[in-house]
Amino acid sequence: MQHIRYQNSVMQVEGISVSDLASRYPTPFYCYSANAFRQQYRRFADAFADFPALICYALKVNSNQAILKILADEGAGADVVSQGELLRALAAGISADKIVFSGVAKTSTEIAFALECGIHCFNIESESELQQISQVAVQVQRTASISLRINPDIDAGTHAKISTGKSENKFGIPWKLALQTYQLAASLPGIKITGIDMHIGSQISKISAFDQSIARLVDLIAQLRELDINIQHIDFGGGLAISYTDQDIDEQTLLAEYAAVISRYASALNCQLIFEPGRFIAGNAGILVTKVIYVKPVEQKTFLIVDAAMNDLIRPTLYDAWHQVATVIEPAEYAATTTVDIVGPVCETGDYLALDRSMPKVAAGELLVLHSAGAYGAVASSTYNSRPLIAEVLVDADREHLIRPSPTHQQIIDLDSVPDWL
Ligand code: LLP
Repeated sequence: MQHIRYQNSVMQVEGISVSDLASRYPTPFYCYSANAFRQQYRRFADAFADFPALICYALKVNSNQAILKILADEGAGADVVSQGELLRALAAGISADKIVFSGVAKTSTEIAFALECGIHCFNIESESELQQISQVAVQVQRTASISLRINPDIDAGTHAKISTGKSENKFGIPWKLALQTYQLAASLPGIKITGIDMHIGSQISKISAFDQSIARLVDLIAQLRELDINIQHIDFGGGLAISYTDQDIDEQTLLAEYAAVISRYASALNCQLIFEPGRFIAGNAGILVTKVIYVKPVEQKTFLIVDAAMNDLIRPTLYDAWHQVATVIEPAEYAATTTVDIVGPVCETGDYLALDRSMPKVAAGELLVLHSAGAYGAVASSTYNSRPLIAEVLVDADREHLIRPSPTHQQIIDLDSVPDWL
């Protein structure tokens, strides 16, 4: 976390201290490092520089327009899963021919819109979706470039809620049905087969799972070519893990191992390579800044009650995710520690951000940061308990910008409409 670290004993994002930021923006808020985004994107792109590769950043991890603009300027394409994300990508200047459309339930409205835009490819997840895309394409007199997302039935070795490549998961077309579905696709009007696709899950550090899944796809490509179905691109999806603890995963080594597996296959394939990384680009480029409201010791433990909650960062309670928590002021080297649960104001026992953490003594009013909050943080937040979505701030060297303000309570209330008969 070169761009987010202590400097002169205060947590800094690039050139600005988090204490200074917190004096200008009310907590809680997300804060991102522009250069961390650039660095991660470049690392990923460099790993595949020897190949014709298109890196389609998965918008679902963090789709703020400012973040998308940073990545668009780096040359990124986009992986989108809704019309909203497609519009976001286009609005940020990502050209349609660099956009792939994934997701199990594209509606005919979304399909027609994406066809009009001229996207690079639809990643198709079922036979019924294939039929629907064909029908819509004929209606709007366009040709849909498609790939089939293959479910390779491989265990990615990750949390059950973010594992997508097993036969029991809702995603993709079972690999055993791939050839017959491709043959159906080849017979349908309005469809042009261009590629093959996979995405087996997220936060994957088991490289063998990628290896085994890719082997299945490579095998299919050979069989398809024998049937005169020419696969011009292979989409490996996203899924590469990041380090949430600073020690568990060495991201650079993992990326190198991943690239080595892909290069081994890619040299003989004569295909464009497509990637849909999300977490790898965004995860460690962001933090959540929060303030301690109360310290509450009880018989068994101490609670640090902070102003951020599960509605702001759902990952700990939904995926048992572990985010490193740090004080904004660096603790003295031998400071005494206590074990605490860091919990929020929401009225749910599941409202916690971190459990059983050894922390230096912290008082009410102190600032904390949760690391690795750049991916699946703000995008997955809600207004539960009528808590406004929190602000997002971007730091780029010594410049800062409020890239999304927090709505006021009144703006939230005004979204409701009371019928005149009440
Ligand atoms: N492509 C597709 C089709 C996906 O479904 C996903 C993520 C990605 C790419 C990006 O995967 P990544 O590189 O970020 O691993 N909310 C969960 C993660 C959900 C993953 C959903 N799909 C979390 O906070 O861990």
